Amino acid sequence: MYNLARQLLFKLSPETSHDLSLDLIGAGGRLGLNGLLTKAPARLPVQVMGLSFDNPVGLAAGLDKNGAAIDGFAQLGFGFVEIGTVTPRPQPGNPKPRIFRLPEATAIINRMGFNNLGVDNLLNRVRASQYKGVLGINIGKNFDTPVERAVDDYLICLDKVYAHASYITVNVSSPNTPGLRSLQFGESLKQLLDALAERREALVGLHGKRVPVAIKIAPDMSDEETAQVAQALLGAGMDAVIATNTTLGREGVEGLAHGDEAGGLSGAPVRERSTHIVKVLAGELAGRMPIIAAGGITEGKHAAEKIAAGASLVQLYSGFIYKGPALIREAVDAIAALPRT
Ligand SMILES: Cc1cc2nc3c(=O)[nH]c(=O)nc-3n(C[C@H](O)[C@H](O)[C@H](O)COP(=O)(O)O)c2cc1C
Repeated sequence: MYNLARQLLFKLSPETSHDLSLDLIGAGGRLGLNGLLTKAPARLPVQVMGLSFDNPVGLAAGLDKNGAAIDGFAQLGFGFVEIGTVTPRPQPGNPKPRIFRLPEATAIINRMGFNNLGVDNLLNRVRASQYKGVLGINIGKNFDTPVERAVDDYLICLDKVYAHASYITVNVSSPNTPGLRSLQFGESLKQLLDALAERREALVGLHGKRVPVAIKIAPDMSDEETAQVAQALLGAGMDAVIATNTTLGREGVEGLAHGDEAGGLSGAPVRERSTHIVKVLAGELAGRMPIIAAGGITEGKHAAEKIAAGASLVQLYSGFIYKGPALIREAVDAIAALPRT
């Protein structure tokens, strides 16, 4: 059934098709119909970051930036749903066109630039949702906040979303907000993590609950840089790392239509690079912090590969666009078939 829908959707521009799909998934969710579209995945409960997941396969950030279709995505069988990236103030993002399909490579290039309706709107959508499962809220900075003041934006979002999120993701790895990725390194990272850790302690006192904080990183890092990030996250008492966001690399798409568009590349071409980052992190973290893997899962076995590489959970984006909701079940089944460690 998704094959038919995909044929129609892929005739539209990627962004029109994205908006329409989101509307349909949202409407289906409000009517409670989405469970009828696809066979539910097997239950494969896992505990990660102190949270209980029905299964380890989640929706990656960026598809539902405003939390407009939380119930709809949950009904498709995701074990958790991450919404955002959201910024303190609404912003339009980059000029269109800004998403490109590269079907020969099962890939997408995007330079959306955190188009979103702002954190207050997102919280209204969260309040309106019926979803009781694990909800991640992914936070970022406005494009016109200078990168030296980025911490302020993250703290504004942290304060606002804290009471409503199962976990919070700090996105320092989008390639489409100038300067953002510099926050992954050295003193900038340390200052950001210290500020987040300090504010979180205050929020624990205020709300009487400790909401886990995850940091989402880029695949475009050397092993040494990855190891340094891992140590910084451990040092600051963060709760998880999400690996990875999209890549600035163009390996695997050279010469293809749209292959040289500016932005972040996702889907099949980023898979090996992302899995490599998971392996380096796993070696460095040695079980002291869970890893959530995203990047190039377009078949069930790729999800199992990420878990075997050391991840505790996985997330889908591009593979979900190309393969539809059946990929969720496939991924859960492939993970369930892994030998238990
Ligand atoms: C169109 C598009 C928009 C995205 N927007 C965000 C975002 O707002 N925040 C974020 O953390 N990641 C965002 N991502 C990255 C995905 O969450 C994911 O980390 C990345 O695409 C790799 O996974 P994939 O290969 O399964 O797509 C976006 C990806 C795409 C394709």
